[in-house]
Amino acid sequence: MKIEWHEYLAVGVAEIDQQHRLLFDKFNAFFAAYAEGRGEEEVSRLFWFLNAYIATHFADEERLQQEIGFPDYQRHREQHLALTREVAALKERLASEGPSPSLVSSAGLLMTGWLIEHISVMDRAIGRFVKERKQGQAG
Ligand SMILES: [Fe+2]
Repeated sequence: MKIEWHEYLAVGVAEIDQQHRLLFDKFNAFFAAYAEGRGEEEVSRLFWFLNAYIATHFADEERLQQEIGFPDYQRHREQHLALTREVAALKERLASEGPSPSLVSSAGLLMTGWLIEHISVMDRAIGRFVKERKQGQAG
């Protein structure tokens, strides 16, 4: 399983797009380590990197939304919290069962389903807001 970043996922805010690409890279590194059978320690380590990066990314994205007065901030933050809880549950499973096939496939589903949906709907709304705001300032 490999998740690919596509142009249609671009939000139009360089910092966010860059972080989304990195997020995909980190998931892919985790999944590749698992698929190549590179030991439990390495796979777990890559999962922790992914987990830490998700937290950093959400915090950065939320800070940006507050800076620009994004009107849908609260609902957006709730989605981040929901995803954070899902990832935390995976982290607990990782601690108890190790990088099992079922855990890795749950992580994959979360990234390909939930996260991509979130990026294409919620995050792209931030991009639109930024653009409209700039146009408003210019006009
Ligand atoms: Fe977001």
